[in-house]
Amino acid sequence: MAKPLLAGNWKMHGTAKTAAKLAADLANSSGDYPELIVFPPYVCIPAVVTELLAAKNIAIGAQNISHHSEGAYTGEISGKMLTDIGCSHVLVGHSERRTNCSESNELVAEKFAAAKRSGLVPILCVGETFEQRQQGQELQVIKSQLDAVVDLVGLETVCDAIVAYEPVWAVGTGETATPEQAQQVHSFIRAELGSGGTDTQILYGGSINADNAAALFAQPDLDGGLVGGASLEAEHFINIAQQIVEQK
Ligand code: 13P
Repeated sequence: MAKPLLAGNWKMHGTAKTAAKLAADLANSSGDYPELIVFPPYVCIPAVVTELLAAKNIAIGAQNISHHSEGAYTGEISGKMLTDIGCSHVLVGHSERRTNCSESNELVAEKFAAAKRSGLVPILCVGETFEQRQQGQELQVIKSQLDAVVDLVGLETVCDAIVAYEPVWAVGTGETATPEQAQQVHSFIRAELGSGGTDTQILYGGSINADNAAALFAQPDLDGGLVGGASLEAEHFINIAQQIVEQK
């Protein structure tokens, strides 16, 4: 059984000061939580690391990574730089980067490999667009996103990472996949991972909030969530975290 996990993607919100406050609020929240990971904007990571030094159950990740290890790549951030400042995880293949920054399946696979080289745990984000779902292509799209990474690093390495199913049409739209839609894709991903995927954490992301969390996490193959908007308030994030614990 995969361990429950809740991750918060803070995207391009806030400043070092507001990020530190949010981290402090999380660190000071008491209760029964699953493993938590927060993904602040790059420049806010040091402030969050400082606030979370004593919070053993909250890990810190970055929202992106260069596929290069080092060199003349202006504006890029390497995996070594991320581990150096206290990151343990990194998002790869988020739909906003696939769409806005034209990241291909192959580039995402390279970023996944770069994360592993640096000792970071990648969260591989996959998901179909509205049009692809309308045409019944969601499983095929997700398979090709997974296969690109498996072809580069091998199935075992993907099983050791974390996968997040984020249907593009549900990200930041207020429209959530139904629990049944999410479960169908999660069980497909689990089957694709094979026998090594039993313990792989498969997260759902896309307009999760305190009202829809319980029904989603009641599904057997949803091991946790990757939350955007609702992770920007400690109270909402913790509420969702507690609902995961209740359902698992
Ligand atoms: P929202 O929860 O705001 O829909 O964002 C989901 C997401 O993109 C997390 O990575």
